[in-house]
Amino acid sequence: MKTLAILLLLLFLTAIGAIGLLWSGRLDVSAGNSPSPLVEWAMHSVMQRSVRAHASGIQPPTNLAGRAADGQRDFDEMCAQCHGAPGKEPGEVGQGLNPRPPSLRDAAHAGHPRNCSGSSKTAFE
Ligand code: HEC
Repeated sequence: MKTLAILLLLLFLTAIGAIGLLWSGRLDVSAGNSPSPLVEWAMHSVMQRSVRAHASGIQPPTNLAGRAADGQRDFDEMCAQCHGAPGKEPGEVGQGLNPRPPSLRDAAHAGHPRNCSGSSKTAFE
């Protein structure tokens, strides 16, 4: 029982310390500095897990005929400046971001199409 109380106290103090560190403003999240590999991994993992969790109920559309032209226009207007497109490099904004926006072609291959569909669904609605 005493061990459990000590563990809970340590857990509580660790949580307070973590919140204090986040709240202090001492963490540098500016795009000018690259985060440490650990922080970069943590941020990217949180982003991917969040997309995966929130996209789990989304069914990618199957009736794509006739929608490709609309999708390409929307992608060119809203996404390509950062992510680039087939045969098109990202624009100045995309090249200046940290982390660099990944090629969505690679992201779609790495994950489930539902994840990309979820991101676009959120952006287009
Ligand atoms: C202002 C720049 C910007 C725009 C515009 C933008 N994105 Fe992104 N996007 C990013 C960045 C930066 C990341 C990487 C975030 C990370 O790695 O933590 C990203 C990540 C993603 C990912 C996750 C890729 C992966 O590795 O799993 C998807 C999917 C995505 N964007 C889709 C879109 C779609 C669809 C649009 C257009 C509707 C769009 N984005 C517009 C900057 C942008």
